[in-house]
Amino acid sequence: MSIEVVRPARTLQGSLTVPGDKSISHRYAMLAGLAEGTTRLSNFSTGADPASSLACMEALGATVETTGEGPTRVIEVTGTAGKFIQPTQPLDCGNSGSTMRMLSGLIAPHPHTFTLIGDHSLTLRPMERIRKPLSQMGVKMDLIEGHAPITIHGGPLQAIDFDTPIPSAQVKTAVLFAGLQATGTTSLSESVRTRDHSEHALRAFGATLTRSGDKLSIPGGQTLKAIDATVPGDLSSAAFFLCAALLFPDSNLILDSLGMNPTRTALLDVLATLGAKFKVLTVEEHHGEMIGTIQVNVAPGGLKGADITGPLSAMIIDELPVLAAIAPYTRDGIRIRDAKELRVKESDRIALVAKNLTAMGAKFTEFEDGLDIPGGQTLHGAQIDSGTDHRIAMAFSIAALRAEGETEIHGAEAAAISFPEFFTNLRELCPA
Ligand code: S3P
Repeated sequence: MSIEVVRPARTLQGSLTVPGDKSISHRYAMLAGLAEGTTRLSNFSTGADPASSLACMEALGATVETTGEGPTRVIEVTGTAGKFIQPTQPLDCGNSGSTMRMLSGLIAPHPHTFTLIGDHSLTLRPMERIRKPLSQMGVKMDLIEGHAPITIHGGPLQAIDFDTPIPSAQVKTAVLFAGLQATGTTSLSESVRTRDHSEHALRAFGATLTRSGDKLSIPGGQTLKAIDATVPGDLSSAAFFLCAALLFPDSNLILDSLGMNPTRTALLDVLATLGAKFKVLTVEEHHGEMIGTIQVNVAPGGLKGADITGPLSAMIIDELPVLAAIAPYTRDGIRIRDAKELRVKESDRIALVAKNLTAMGAKFTEFEDGLDIPGGQTLHGAQIDSGTDHRIAMAFSIAALRAEGETEIHGAEAAAISFPEFFTNLRELCPA
């Protein structure tokens, strides 16, 4: 386990291009693996999670090659033209819930037996949520008390009409990916609109799907064609630096090539409520995804407070740890409720946020579905336990920037799951 030391900073100045979006990278990797032809992906996420998706595609018969480095790095995926092979080894999803859940839907229509495994954290995460719709479609799927390892006995699938009981883009995607290859038209309704990267990615690869109100429909028996695409920067990774910028009155942060898909930007509204001032400098569309350059400053008067409840909690679920970590430094505090899903992410994020806030001397109230963190607090440097969770490691590195004394992030290597460059960027943008 590696330790990173984070010292208090005075300001945040500069510009940053965050790595390619993790959610979009997974989807492009998987659809490229199924498609016919060679897909070329620029700015593909450098994180370990999307690398798990690429490795699974190779195990399923696709070819993956990397050319160039840094900004010129391109991932080339030559797909299987709709025919995955029988893998000779279990499909290792690593730490990635997205890989395990979305891949299950993608491979289920193929006439093979698949075993999906993951690391300790992934083995603790709920998988019944994908078994339900997929088994309605005719998939025989074995879990161990609702968890991985998963065995899928693949074969022909029938379309279904499915109402998603919990807001989850991963479950939606598993159903859409299976529906794409089923007999008949699969429909799916969501009560809370989750991130729609799968819908854009499917269309980019040539599939037809329609949305009417909150109902999506995808005809089965479709084939996909390779694309050339650039992955937008990951707003959930940028969130750490956006929150860091808010900690200093004279901050000036420019984020380039940032993904600004409206189903992901609710965080920007919350930050604006807290006291961020945004300027959109450029914006363009690529395969249905918005990519822009934004400038962030802090409004005079500093950070106020925020109430995050109801559907909003689901929409910014990945950003809640960092919002919780900066909450003590706001004037009015941050109240987070209706976020029980945080307990079944890469870790129990409510418990780990609580543990690390306590270590830094913060006062708060913990609920089963959230946290109430008063503002106006002074925190001290501490030993932080990442719990091997990338977002916890990064969230408390941001809290450390305004603490008194230095903070040690234990298990800092977890950041590489989504953002390997995080600590380098932190040192560049927030010198002590
Ligand atoms: C993701 C969906 C969300 C999110 C995860 C990525 C995706 O999970 O928390 O980090 O790429 O579809 P759920 O589908 O469990 O809500």
